[in-house]
Amino acid sequence: MPAHPSGSPAAGPHLTYYEDFSPGHGALPPRAWVPASDAARLSLNGLWWFRLSPTATAEDTAFTRPDFDASRWDILAVPGHWVLGGHGAPAYTNVRYPFPVDPPRVPTENPTGDHRHTFALPEDWPAGGETVLRFDGVESCARIWLNGREVGVFKGSRLPAEYPVGHLLRRRGNVLAVRVHQWSSASYLEDQDMWWLPGVFRDVTLLHRPAGCVADFFVHAGWDHSTGEGTLRVDAPSGGRVTVPELGVDVAVGETVTVPAEPWSAEVPRLYEAVLTGAGERVPFRVGFRTVAVEDGVLKVNGRRILFRGVNRHEFHPEHGRALDLGTMREDLLLMKRHNVNAVRTSHYPPHPAFLDLCDELGLWVVDECDLETHGFAEDGWAGNPVDDDRWTPALLDRAARMVERDKNHPSVLVWSLGNECGTGRALTAMARWIRERDPDRPLHYEGDRTCADTDLYSRMYAPHAEVERIGRREEEPLDDPALDARRRAMPFLLCEYAHAMGNGPGGLAEYQRLFETHERLQGGFVWEWIDHGIARRTPDGRRWFAYGGDFGEELHDGNFVCDGLLFPDRTPSPGLVEYKKVVEPVRIEGDPVAGTVRVTNRHDVADLSHLRFTWSYEVDGVAAARGDLDVPPLAAGGTTELKLPLPAAADGAGEAFWQVRAVLARDTPWAPAGHEVAWGQWPAADRPGSLRTAPDPERPHRPRHAEGGVVLLGPGTFDAATGELRLLDGFALAGPRLDVWRAPTDNDLGAPWQSDPRHGLLWREAGLHRMRHRVDGVVAGDDALTVTTRVAPAAGSLGLRTVYRWTADGDRLHLAVAVTPEGRWTLPLPRLGVRLGLCGTLTRAEWFGGGPGEAYPDTRAASRVGLHTASVDALQTPYVRPQENGARADVRRVRLRREDGTGVAIEGGPPFWFTARRWTSEELDAAAHTCDLVPGDTLWVNLDHALHGIGSQSCGPGVLPRHRLEAAPASFGFTFTTLGESR
Ligand code: GAL
Repeated sequence: MPAHPSGSPAAGPHLTYYEDFSPGHGALPPRAWVPASDAARLSLNGLWWFRLSPTATAEDTAFTRPDFDASRWDILAVPGHWVLGGHGAPAYTNVRYPFPVDPPRVPTENPTGDHRHTFALPEDWPAGGETVLRFDGVESCARIWLNGREVGVFKGSRLPAEYPVGHLLRRRGNVLAVRVHQWSSASYLEDQDMWWLPGVFRDVTLLHRPAGCVADFFVHAGWDHSTGEGTLRVDAPSGGRVTVPELGVDVAVGETVTVPAEPWSAEVPRLYEAVLTGAGERVPFRVGFRTVAVEDGVLKVNGRRILFRGVNRHEFHPEHGRALDLGTMREDLLLMKRHNVNAVRTSHYPPHPAFLDLCDELGLWVVDECDLETHGFAEDGWAGNPVDDDRWTPALLDRAARMVERDKNHPSVLVWSLGNECGTGRALTAMARWIRERDPDRPLHYEGDRTCADTDLYSRMYAPHAEVERIGRREEEPLDDPALDARRRAMPFLLCEYAHAMGNGPGGLAEYQRLFETHERLQGGFVWEWIDHGIARRTPDGRRWFAYGGDFGEELHDGNFVCDGLLFPDRTPSPGLVEYKKVVEPVRIEGDPVAGTVRVTNRHDVADLSHLRFTWSYEVDGVAAARGDLDVPPLAAGGTTELKLPLPAAADGAGEAFWQVRAVLARDTPWAPAGHEVAWGQWPAADRPGSLRTAPDPERPHRPRHAEGGVVLLGPGTFDAATGELRLLDGFALAGPRLDVWRAPTDNDLGAPWQSDPRHGLLWREAGLHRMRHRVDGVVAGDDALTVTTRVAPAAGSLGLRTVYRWTADGDRLHLAVAVTPEGRWTLPLPRLGVRLGLCGTLTRAEWFGGGPGEAYPDTRAASRVGLHTASVDALQTPYVRPQENGARADVRRVRLRREDGTGVAIEGGPPFWFTARRWTSEELDAAAHTCDLVPGDTLWVNLDHALHGIGSQSCGPGVLPRHRLEAAPASFGFTFTTLGESR
């Protein structure tokens, strides 16, 4: 047996440091994060020597000696994860531990990364005082040596630890050696749904702590909405003075001062520059005055109810994993602010500390969550759950303390969260007790205990709309214990996770928002989740794609469940984020076409409307015929006003008209320039409703006639006389339109294995909707129409769709009327109902008048605006990390598909239709596992749908709401086809 690193046997009562219950050792008490002070600091980030061993004990600790020769080792960037730096591979599981559950023991196969870094102190590094070595994050356990002497053991991956090292430091030639184990006892506490990514993934810093330094400080800054005054007290064991020059404040540490001040909020993040001067250190910090409280069953900030328009944010970068640079953190926040997101839950661990500075500065409400999840124990009914086992309690309390102490001075942090999905247990209660005592000014959150015994907020994840509505009325199912029930019923409610943004979706956001805006108790939620954790890879020919679980050969994995964000891995907003932006917009703009008025409602929590400029436009067929500014008074938060719109230009001629009113930023802000759109409303004008122009001119009916070659000619169309299928349209070859009900199931169609409701994506396939057969029952060339009667049905069942295609023409326009009658007992909805046709692949550009610019489905269509849109066919595709149905455009009146030379095909619909075009079939889309599997063919496949089934959120949450289901029912719809010459 190899020598054991700690000298104790690998088995038996003496557990090694990486397998014991301890939270690590050697670290100083945790303290507040200080981005900068006048004390010296030295970043040790950079390129380090690195060696990977397959087990924790394979190599001895000779590498920790200063004279060890590591020059044959590899080089690794710190911060970083070695599995993303060419050593080993990432692995993804959601709930299940990827090792036998035998706490606190871990497998012998325990990838272990030895790191070495040599550094000198800067010339001006001060003498005297202490120096600490700080690690901001290491996964999952590290043993640390400086100049050959052991400094301590780090656990608690996403939390900082500081070790006193002054006595070990030299001017130059310092050798820092760090041994990192992928698996440790701490891994049992870190079973968050994400990639397992070992390494020193956050900053490593050397900090001088001068004599008389500010050891720690706690800023208490409340705001009284009845007086408009802020109250400030800064506690610091080491004493000192606090100044806030802008407020004329100059007080001793521990002294309370009350002054007129502006409050801090996510909408108006007013910060005051302050300085804490201790005997030996000057620490600048920022004060945001705000008071958070639960009052009358409502969560309030500065006396006002707030509504979380939130997201759950994991730290993720497609190349760097959880090693995020400042630019990426800022980019996340800018994207959030620009999409009307006002809150972040730091699922499921405290983020890099600099992220919270940015939240203070840019304005976000934050639920700061502890680095804790033991979900894998649920697999065995929570047997052995660490949060209910006293041996683990010190480690859990250590985590609570390290979060609270590090983050306590951020005004953005409103709520502490104990962790995620840990079941229930005594240690959670102990954590809650400790946090309340240390910081009584912030409410506590934890979702995993339905009794809410330790929390101040009632929180749930993925509750369906109907249940959320009952909770909103405080009419939820009672708890067994009447006292706990009464306590919980008096609590504010939030959805700490909802609207699972996996693949296409989430659907049903607008309906949730309506509930949040109706019931005071419902204080919003946090969409799951912010970003897809897809890891960037390249095909041999250089095309980029994103990997998910299983792509690295993991024997246990949860596939693409790791890609469930509102951003694609490269941070491109997905249609889900665009939808969310619209649904949560802080100004509601609604028109009354008959009265010619617009109602503007200020749905901000705090801000009035003076930061916005309003414009109106009157658009005919998607082109602004008139526009101007709209004078909206600076309504206070919660206010509503009704304004008269100007009289539109005289109705001259045809065209469908819409009113649009937009609210844009009046001035530059730190997160978006002036002119950035915040909210909008669009509604049809009463004086010019849409008129359907698709019916052929009854005055000029054409008569179908049989011609040579087994064809029927009708207007610009040439049909196969035997099948009735359209083959040519004025010279354009076609795979004729025929009924199509299939879509490549979305992640939400497929649902999650644990869902008890029907999972339609599976039922569709079982029913054979992906392999429908088309039986031709009749092709009749009548006096004024070609009528093709068919039955479309899958093998092995009696379900069918009787489908009649009636073709008419009036010269150069060819019209198709489709009538569908279901046969048999349809108990499942249809994925889609429409026709699919194949056109020449040289048609690469689409122009349409209808909903856009982005994708929309029945329950994800809030952001779709009727207008004149253009896009290349390639740009119509939404690159979901796992390919699936995507790209439909809603409410399309007409679409033109053109070649480069301008020639093409035009299609009009009556009634408006859903338009989808792609260079592969739905079947190819369905078969693809990654975007790089999709290879364009020679045909442009176009779906013209009368109706689509909704999207829902069943990949983790509720399915499609009844009103968005596409039931099989008799339907008729039609399209008119023409060709476009170069000049048209
Ligand atoms: C929740 C969990 C998240 C994530 C999500 C599904 O149960 O808290 O971490 O796994 O489900 O994506």
